[in-house]
Amino acid sequence: MTGPPDLTQTWGWNEAGGEPGTGADVRLDHLTVRRGGVVVLQDISLAIPAGSVTVVVGRSGVGKTTLIRSLTGLIAPSAGAVRVSGVDIFDGRRALRTHRRRTATVFQDHALIDRLSAFDNVLLGLADFRHPLSPLPWSSAFRRRAAEALDGVGLLHRAATRTLHLSGGERQRVGVARALVRRPRLLLGDEPFASVDPTLVRRLGDEFRDLAVRSGVTVVLVLHQIETARAIADHIVGLADGTVAFDGPADEFGALAQARVFNSLRSVPTKGGSHHA
Ligand SMILES: Nc1ncnc2c1ncn2[C@@H]1O[C@H](COP(=O)(O)OP(=O)(O)O)[C@@H](O)[C@H]1O
Ligand SMILES: [Mg+2]
Repeated sequence: MTGPPDLTQTWGWNEAGGEPGTGADVRLDHLTVRRGGVVVLQDISLAIPAGSVTVVVGRSGVGKTTLIRSLTGLIAPSAGAVRVSGVDIFDGRRALRTHRRRTATVFQDHALIDRLSAFDNVLLGLADFRHPLSPLPWSSAFRRRAAEALDGVGLLHRAATRTLHLSGGERQRVGVARALVRRPRLLLGDEPFASVDPTLVRRLGDEFRDLAVRSGVTVVLVLHQIETARAIADHIVGLADGTVAFDGPADEFGALAQARVFNSLRSVPTKGGSHHA
């Protein structure tokens, strides 16, 4: 085709029009990922049910971020496959693009733009659905979606407030709305609570879980706070030495399982230690 792009058209509207509440099931089939010539993840197979909350834990450098970035579609496997709703997300550009558009990420401290309103921050969750050069105001359909997303987290009354003036809990809810406005089938996060005051992590974690579960999305998070992981996850995946050292229900991730994942750091529970199941 020739001529200038039609900037009035919304990009990928079909892919943006998914129904809410349709989380995808995710399967890693013998996934191997190399970074800089080193095998980081080795022959990992996992099944993550649709609509569940899975938390990935493990020592620093074990490959948690690599795993999340493979699920996002940013790091291609050296072998094996990432299947989302049965489709290999790396099987061609179209599959990858569709996957990226139906995936959302929650960021550390939610990465809000403080000088913008809550409403405008939520609209930014849809930025890749419209033409990057578009000089036009957001379409009414997208504005309605942003309002619905804010309403869904109970913050419609704060729509016009700059996020600078919101509380920590309200900021998180704006961050979640910005993710859910995409109507994702998969919601990913790499240590989203890393910069949160430790005394608030549990409460924010619980609230995050409630919002995500209510939306029906499938959630995969990396967390380093073990107690928060146990509280908000349905399933925990523990990585050690590039493989899966634990894969089971969160309430089975007790002292022994933790020792297996974190080995030398936790293999000898100390007297009065707090890591007993
Ligand atoms: N771009 C890269 N090039 C080479 N090695 C990398 C790269 N990114 C990560 N790594 C290595 O891969 C391993 C896993 O990293 P990462 O997934 O970030 O671990 P985690 O998130 O569990 O701390 C580390 O040993 C790290 O040094
Ligand atoms: Mg990491």
